Amino acid sequence: AGRRGGQVVYQGDYCNMLLQDTLTSRYLNGTMRIDPPAERRKGTGESLLLKGARGNNLKGCNVEFPLGKLICVTGVSGSGKSTVALGLERELHSRGILCRILDGDNIRAGINNNLGFSAEDRTENIRRIAEIGKLFVQTGVVTLACFVSPTRDIRRMAREIVGGEDFLEVFVSTPIEECERRDVKGLYARARRGEVKDFTGVSAPFEAPLSPDLDIDTSVLSLQESVDKVLQLILAKSKL
Ligand code: ADX
Repeated sequence: AGRRGGQVVYQGDYCNMLLQDTLTSRYLNGTMRIDPPAERRKGTGESLLLKGARGNNLKGCNVEFPLGKLICVTGVSGSGKSTVALGLERELHSRGILCRILDGDNIRAGINNNLGFSAEDRTENIRRIAEIGKLFVQTGVVTLACFVSPTRDIRRMAREIVGGEDFLEVFVSTPIEECERRDVKGLYARARRGEVKDFTGVSAPFEAPLSPDLDIDTSVLSLQESVDKVLQLILAKSKL
């Protein structure tokens, strides 16, 4: 790969190519934003086709870059965030779209296992998640971040870190009475008994988004209907 003026500038493993300091490798490893002029950019829905690259060593080639997005899936505990994300992951993968779910299971149990549920810790939780999500997005991965993310300020911070054009907000607006009735993890009952403090929706605030890109209520919609709505949003917003 990689020719400049008829001269081969790189030959070898694709992986090693990413480590070279060339424009192409910076595009491919996500450290440089892909911003080709309009006449050479074409959207295919899920990817950006860059035709006849001018300033790099893929000159004359057509390179397809997948487009990443971070979907901030917000809502109270038990609203159905991760369930919808799992259904969505299946749909995206079956269309060849790479996707990564970030949720309490893989983030609060791992990199954020030193954080609790105070306002400060929740802010730090979401700050790290947004920074991690941004790395996925820059590599072209659709990233589903399923966290309560309870306040408008917290979600605004996440949007600023990721960048507005790569950020979508999906509000899982299932009424809290229904979430409490489901009480999958038994946490609402414990919070009512005062055994869990600062529990969102019981003893800590949840601020509903004012203008989310999408609002889904899993007490009204079936799982497949919810998944389809988010899928259509992602596909529509990925178009150039
Ligand atoms: S966030 O507020 O910082 O965005 P996050 O989504 O990571 O929260 O974690 C919420 C999950 O942690 C809930 O679904 C629930 O299972 C669990 N949890 C434990 N304690 C609390 C609490 N005090 N408030 C909210 N969720 C809690």
